[in-house]
Amino acid sequence: HSVAIVGAPFSKGQKRRGVEHGPKAIRDAGLVERLSNLDYPVHDFGDLTFKHLEKDEHFMHVPFPRTVGRANQLLSGAVSGAVGAGHTCLMLGGDHSLAIGSVEGHSQQCPDLCLIWVDAHADINTPLTSPSGNLHGQSVSFLLKDLQNKMPQVPGFSWMKPFLSARDLVYIGLRDVDPGEHVILKTMGIQYFSMRDIDRMGIQRVMEVTLDHLLARKQRPIHLSFDIDAFDPSLAPATGTPVNGGLLSVMDVVEVNPTLGASPEAVEATTSLAVDVIASALGQTREGAHVAFPKIT
Ligand code: ARG
Ligand code: MN
Ligand code: MN
Ligand code: MN
Repeated sequence: HSVAIVGAPFSKGQKRRGVEHGPKAIRDAGLVERLSNLDYPVHDFGDLTFKHLEKDEHFMHVPFPRTVGRANQLLSGAVSGAVGAGHTCLMLGGDHSLAIGSVEGHSQQCPDLCLIWVDAHADINTPLTSPSGNLHGQSVSFLLKDLQNKMPQVPGFSWMKPFLSARDLVYIGLRDVDPGEHVILKTMGIQYFSMRDIDRMGIQRVMEVTLDHLLARKQRPIHLSFDIDAFDPSLAPATGTPVNGGLLSVMDVVEVNPTLGASPEAVEATTSLAVDVIASALGQTREGAHVAFPKIT
């Protein structure tokens, strides 16, 4: 199987600049070479070009709604195209609002996908519960069918419909959840493992329960959305385990902001961590346990 890299240099899902340099920083840390050392062909599709829309007023307290919506529409098409062409797709962000388009594009090809969200944050605020207004803290609320009676119609997003069920989602690594998000997690019965759960159970057991929860009824493609702010060394195996069955279909690596590091060393530590996480997620398929997943469409 081959890996398609889609770069998404986009930062309007939050208010700090710099995260749009994530794709370049991760590539500069040696991504393509690391992947080529594994056994598969790498197709680097380069970076998408995003437009900042001139007229894009706040929606409630949400900034840049149309710009974020349009960017995700473009990304959705790119991810759908890559998956449709038979690649495992690696999406390099950019901020985590990009998961909206990435997961949506994936779902175009694989309607029965499931989602593993590795993050310190749940990113499940609605525009009504969000303390910041930032769309990178709201991505999941755009995806979930079960939440639609709680969602206003945000300008810029009429191109998509929510498609994911609460039971098709598992969170790993949560440690900073807003009150409104906690209500949503609890009332919708979403499976999640906080850092405290991981400390108690161990990551091995967490992954077993996660995969059992998502795959026990049927084997299906996994979308892994990895926010680099989740990172704790104990979470590294979380990326290796899902692909033992060859099910990893799309992986997002987001929120790598090379301008926020305290020193060049700190930046390099983060970007090389990102490459490690990607290589460990994709490298396992070399072991021979890889089974091609039958195409759904
Ligand atoms: N929960 C906070 C918010 O809604 C922080 C979200 C951080 N999200 C992220 N993708 N880093 O603004
Ligand atoms: Mn291929
Ligand atoms: Mn986060
Ligand atoms: Mn996030």
